[in-house]
Amino acid sequence: MDQPTIDELKILISRQQIADRVAELGRQITGDSAGEPLVFVGVLKGAAVFLSDLVRHVQCDATFEFIGVASYGARPTPHQEIRGGWDSTGEVRLTKDVDHSLRGKNVILVEDILDTGLTLTFLKRLLLGHQPKSFRIAVLLDKPSRRKLAVDVDYTGFTIADEFVVGYGLDYAERYRNLPDICVLPNLSAPE
Ligand code: IMP
Ligand code: MG
Repeated sequence: MDQPTIDELKILISRQQIADRVAELGRQITGDSAGEPLVFVGVLKGAAVFLSDLVRHVQCDATFEFIGVASYGARPTPHQEIRGGWDSTGEVRLTKDVDHSLRGKNVILVEDILDTGLTLTFLKRLLLGHQPKSFRIAVLLDKPSRRKLAVDVDYTGFTIADEFVVGYGLDYAERYRNLPDICVLPNLSAPE
């Protein structure tokens, strides 16, 4: 089956709902940061759109970093199961590290979606190794039904059901990241 065209996708969260919620998260982060400088660390590529909107609603001295990860095997794909347990973060590897040390910094890790929890567990462990002054996590979406490893998140945009979503940075086989709304992708086979 061919992948759906952009106008065949069903909107789950509209651009207005996203904008309102992201502004709210930005205000919350501003309030919590007590005037201290922040370093936002975005997870490539999915979190780039969320990060760029979020930081414009945060009123404090801020810098950005980007970090890249890839999964061994075919993850993440829709409707595919993976091994559970602590060793499963070994399924995630770093493809791009941050450019500057985070030692003594107030770090906010920014991710598009928390799904199984493997990626954020891996990244949290990695970034805590830098010995930041504080460490918090912001995710746009949370799919709790798919969790394999528990992750404590400080800021969550929306909690969604177990559906594969695209748009606003999220992709399916690298497509659809530029959609302004978050849309549900109908059942498809896994991309390679
Ligand atoms: P986790 O390690 O399973 O928590 O997966 C996080 C990553 O899986 C995200 O950064 C996304 O790249 C990807 N992912 C999980 N669910 C979706 C989805 O519904 N749409 C697009 N990407 C997803
Ligand atoms: Mg991602």
